[in-house]
Amino acid sequence: MKKKVLVTGGTGYIGSHTVVELMNAGFTPIIVDNLSNSNISVLEGIKKITGIEPIFENIDCKDYIALDRFFEKYQGIEAIINFAASKAVGESVEKPLLYYRNNLMSLVNLLELMPKHGINNIVFSSSCTVYGQPDVLPVTEQSPIKPATSPYGSTKQMSETIIADTVYAYSNLKAILLRYFNPIGAHPSGEIGELPNGIPNNLLPYVTQTARGLREKLRVFGDDYNTEDGSCIRDFINVVDLAKAHVVAVKRMLENKSEKPVEIFNLGTGRGVSVFELVSAFEKATGVKVPFEVAPRRDGDIEKVWADTSYANEVLGWKAQETLENTLRSAWNWEQKLMSRDGNS
Ligand code: UFG
Repeated sequence: MKKKVLVTGGTGYIGSHTVVELMNAGFTPIIVDNLSNSNISVLEGIKKITGIEPIFENIDCKDYIALDRFFEKYQGIEAIINFAASKAVGESVEKPLLYYRNNLMSLVNLLELMPKHGINNIVFSSSCTVYGQPDVLPVTEQSPIKPATSPYGSTKQMSETIIADTVYAYSNLKAILLRYFNPIGAHPSGEIGELPNGIPNNLLPYVTQTARGLREKLRVFGDDYNTEDGSCIRDFINVVDLAKAHVVAVKRMLENKSEKPVEIFNLGTGRGVSVFELVSAFEKATGVKVPFEVAPRRDGDIEKVWADTSYANEVLGWKAQETLENTLRSAWNWEQKLMSRDGNS
C-alpha cells in the first residue's frame, strides 16, 4: 500500500514539485489547496510528468471544520507537508493581519487535528529569513534567530515556535522544519514551474519575464552593498532538489530515524551568488540578453546570505545536485512554455 501524505499548498510552486517527487518515490500525495495563489492547471502538469492523476481537494486550511471533514474522508494519512502560506514579503508589510491569519491559523488547525486523526509527522516550510542578516556566513542551523524584518518573516519564526511547543506537549508528534534559501528554476519537463501573480517580486521570474520581453528591464536593487560586485548575494537552490529534500524528510520520520522530535535543516547549495552573477549566468546559459538598470536598494533586503549545508548533507543524506546553469535553463524553458501558452502579454 502506498503511503499517503497530505500536501497543503500542493498546487503552489514548491508544493507542486514536491508532489511530483513524492509520486516518483512511491507515495500517494493528497493535495489540499484553496488556489489563492496558484492555478488548477498545475494538476495537468503533474499528471503529464508522472502519469498519475493527483488527488486534489479545494479546501482552505483556515477552515477547521472543512479540514476535519477532509481527514475523516482520507483516513490513514501518515505525514503532512505544510506549504500552505502567503509568501510575499512586501505584501505582508501592507497586510500584516492577512499574513498572521493565513499562515498561523492554517498551521494551528493542522496541528490541532493531527492528534485527533492519528497523524504524527509534519514537515514545515520555513525560510532562511529567520536568520535575518547573519553575523557569520555561511549560516548554520545554530545561527541566532534575528528579529524579523517583515510580518511574513514573523509568521515563519512564530510557526517554528508553535510547532516546537506543540511537539513538546504531544509526545507522539514529530516535526522537521526546513529552512529554504532562494528556490529557483522549474521542472526539467517544462510542465510545472513558478506562476507569479502579476509583477514578480522575486529575482528570477523578473529576469525570465524581462528576457521574454514582458518587462522592459530588470531593476537591480542596489550596487553599493559590501560585496565584491556591490549587489546582494543569495543561495539559489534548484526547486526539484528542494522538493526531493521533502521526500527524504518524510521518509526519515516514517522510518523513525529522527534524532530529535523537532529537527531543523538548512536547504541551500552552500554557494553564494550575487544578483549580477545570476543575471550574467542566465545570459550565458540561455544566450538571451537581459537588459537591466541599477535601482536604489529595496527596503528590508538582506545584504548577503548563504547556507552551511553540512548538517542536511550528513544527517539528512541530501545534497543539492543541479548546476546553476541547468537550473537557469529550466526557468527559461518554463517561461517559454508560458509564452507559447499565453502569448506575449
Ligand atoms: N532583486 C532585484 N531585482 C528584482 C528582484 C529582486 O535586484 O526585481 C534582488 C533583491 O534585491 C535581492 C535578490 O534579488 O537582493 C533576491 O531577491 P528575491 O526577492 O528573489 O528573494 P529574497 O532573498 O528577497 O526573498 C526570498 C524569498 C522570501 C524569503 C527570503 C529569505 O522570496 O520568501 O528569501 O531571505 F523570506
